[in-house]
Amino acid sequence: MEDPIQRHPTRAEQLDILATVLADTVPEGGRLLDLGVGTGYVAHLVLSRRPDLDLVGIDLKQDSLDAAKTNLPNGPNGARRDFVQGDLNRLPEIVLPHASYDAVVCALTFHDLADTAKQAVIEWVAQCLVPGGRFVLYDRLRLTEAAAFPLQQSLWRRIAQVHGAAMRDADDFDAYVADLGQTNRPAALEDYLTWFRDAKLSPAILHLHGNIALLSASRAS
Ligand SMILES: C[S@@+](CC[C@H](N)C(=O)[O-])C[C@H]1O[C@@H](n2cnc3c(N)ncnc32)[C@H](O)[C@@H]1O
Repeated sequence: MEDPIQRHPTRAEQLDILATVLADTVPEGGRLLDLGVGTGYVAHLVLSRRPDLDLVGIDLKQDSLDAAKTNLPNGPNGARRDFVQGDLNRLPEIVLPHASYDAVVCALTFHDLADTAKQAVIEWVAQCLVPGGRFVLYDRLRLTEAAAFPLQQSLWRRIAQVHGAAMRDADDFDAYVADLGQTNRPAALEDYLTWFRDAKLSPAILHLHGNIALLSASRAS
């Protein structure tokens, strides 16, 4: 299966790390919940390593879920792939096939949500996780320090030179802030760490490349 978002040049390594840590830590026959499963690329990366896992994928868009169903056939020994149409802004309306999950993953979906919705989803995820379960979140972080912005611009230029592909950038910090909007509202790293702790989850930074973060939040055993 091909990555549907190929213009992120550092994405392949970060998603490989995401898939590796999930594949290494979810117990045999465990359940994975994917928030914003899209056409299933990230779930595919995990399930190709761990076909024994059950998957539940949620997405707003039925056409993406239809594609995910095609891309992610059921696994061996009854391992299921279930898909639920739902809006992460309307959590009480989402009906999941199971009450608890060994791991929850969310890749490049949180920046579509307002900060209040992000925090609500984190609280909801904490309720969905089994003791010892983990939430793995991959997304852009909001840049908050104007003084550090030239360093991020340098990182973007380096990525373009090394990988031959440009990432979303901005001419200056004011232009960066002006570009934040309904479909581009990443949260700051400090906010994520606070929201995870508020939900009684232990945060960790698994990989950070400039403003692209792979974070985890673990429930105590
Ligand atoms: C960039 S894509 C994520 C790609 C996906 N994780 C993958 O593995 O390919 C973002 C996904 O989040 C979904 N999404 C955005 N807002 C949502 C919401 N409020 N509730 C549920 N899904 C949402 C979009 O429909 C889209 O499929």
